[in-house]
Amino acid sequence: MTAFAWLNCPDPKLAEALTYLAQQPGKQLRSQLTVTCAELVAGEPVAAATSVGEAIELLHTYSLVHDDLPAMDDDDLRRGQPTLHCAFDEATAILAGDGLQAAAFQRLAEIDSLTADQRLELVRLVSIAVGFNGMVGGQALDLAAEQQRVSVEALRDIHRLKTGALIAAAAEAGAICADASREQRAALATFARSIGLAFQVTDDVLDVTGDSSSLGKTAGKDEQAQKSTYVSTLGLEGARAEADTLLNDALTALSMFGERAEPLRQLANAMVHRNT
Ligand code: IPE
Ligand code: IPE
Ligand code: MG
Ligand code: MG
Ligand code: MG
Repeated sequence: MTAFAWLNCPDPKLAEALTYLAQQPGKQLRSQLTVTCAELVAGEPVAAATSVGEAIELLHTYSLVHDDLPAMDDDDLRRGQPTLHCAFDEATAILAGDGLQAAAFQRLAEIDSLTADQRLELVRLVSIAVGFNGMVGGQALDLAAEQQRVSVEALRDIHRLKTGALIAAAAEAGAICADASREQRAALATFARSIGLAFQVTDDVLDVTGDSSSLGKTAGKDEQAQKSTYVSTLGLEGARAEADTLLNDALTALSMFGERAEPLRQLANAMVHRNT
């Protein structure tokens, strides 16, 4: 995976762990979102968006490594392979996550085809998305909601933070790379907030309807851990209907772009109607 290509580490075990992660790149939907949003605004491919997408994939990979740790979701399968702490050990998984997070911000700071203002704006946007008021806060709320009955409003807030925030930042980051107008950026932010939530609703559905070998992660894990999910809260059909409503909301937000948003519409569809 190119996102990992420039990383190195003096410790052989940690370096091997990075190679292990690089060999299972995942679907890379977040980087596709960055690249597609940038191209939509610019009307042509934007090279910097590829680098920004790589940084976002590093952050996403870190989030999965830590999400799988015994102290969190305690999963042993990820992207079709043993999770990092199972293949190596917990210390390696913690350190790999820590290092990936730092590397992502280094990557953003070093994109020399962007202006200093753009780089600063990206660092600010992405750091908020993965911080206490974004992914990390959402992950804490997700763990606290285990074995609890939470309202659908509370669950929506958890999902928006733990998953939606980084997805929304991925789309907005594309807009920043392409120097979007205020209106374009606002439309993409509205689009991405809905698609980010829809993505996690589908993840909850797939945990129930999918099997471990096609998902590449343990199916049925949410029920086993008594997680609060859209399926446990709204039922399977209710969750599916919610994902479709959110997808429609997302597509509506793209109306100002007309035909040119077709690639982004297709990506949005693929993010919600997926099997893995
Ligand atoms: C899984 O994300 C974790 C969630 C936020 C739901 P993805 O389904 O995008 O995982 P990969 O990157 O394709 O493995
Ligand atoms: C993961 O949500 C969210 C983050 C990694 C931030 P889940 O815990 O539902 O993701 P999976 O199902 O393990 O991929
Ligand atoms: Mg989790
Ligand atoms: Mg998990
Ligand atoms: Mg899940």
